[in-house]
Amino acid sequence: MKYFIGNWKMFGVPGSINILDKINLFNLRDRNRKKYKVIITPPYTLLETFAKNFKSKKILIGSQNCYHKDLYSSNTAAISPYMIKKVGAKLTLIGHSDNRSEGDTDKILKDKVFFALKNNLKIVFCIGENKKQKKNNQTLKVLHKQLTQVLEKRFNRNNIIVAYEPIWSIGTGKIPNQEELLKTILHIKKILRKIFGKRIPSIIYGGSVDETNVQKFRKINEINGFLIGGASKSSKKFIDIIKNYYR
Ligand code: 13P
Repeated sequence: MKYFIGNWKMFGVPGSINILDKINLFNLRDRNRKKYKVIITPPYTLLETFAKNFKSKKILIGSQNCYHKDLYSSNTAAISPYMIKKVGAKLTLIGHSDNRSEGDTDKILKDKVFFALKNNLKIVFCIGENKKQKKNNQTLKVLHKQLTQVLEKRFNRNNIIVAYEPIWSIGTGKIPNQEELLKTILHIKKILRKIFGKRIPSIIYGGSVDETNVQKFRKINEINGFLIGGASKSSKKFIDIIKNYYR
């Protein structure tokens, strides 16, 4: 199963549901639809409306983040995994570099993962090196730390997707070359096997994926889908990404 996950970041108002309508229409007609799942992560403000409207359809709705505490707390503007689950979302991103750069430590991320899974949300756990780390050949070391400091064997691997998103690639139009990417993905697999044993979470790729470059990723079988930022805000681009992937 492949995942096409659209991360809208700070984008969208209630009327933006027409983007989902169009993706849904395409999805219903697509002969490849059984091979993949579509997930959209809108901002918190749209979670409930979107989750309710697409409950019985083929698009799952998730949040972009969650707070690292269960149920309720006295933290202004915080939204817990419990609250996210209760409005009908099925999953949450955790550890996106946008949030890591705003103070999400490994300890906080571990709590987020724990409470999200406890509340029956699937998680998309994001990892990735920055430009400087890549330049200094630290990619594999950075990814090792990000994975081993947070993920544990006791977490249900079936509810975890790992998203490799090199920070230098996000929003820049730059993507890793195939050789480099394969090496990195195999390294991630190795670390995940050390944590979980033989059966490991799915791995997806994120960073400047669009309708023109998505085919380049097809050769790497180990990549189980994509986390798509900019191109997911247009139904046409998002649909073309899926079409071109299977072309
Ligand atoms: P872009 O696809 O815009 O590079 O964003 C990737 C991303 O950060 C998805 O979470």
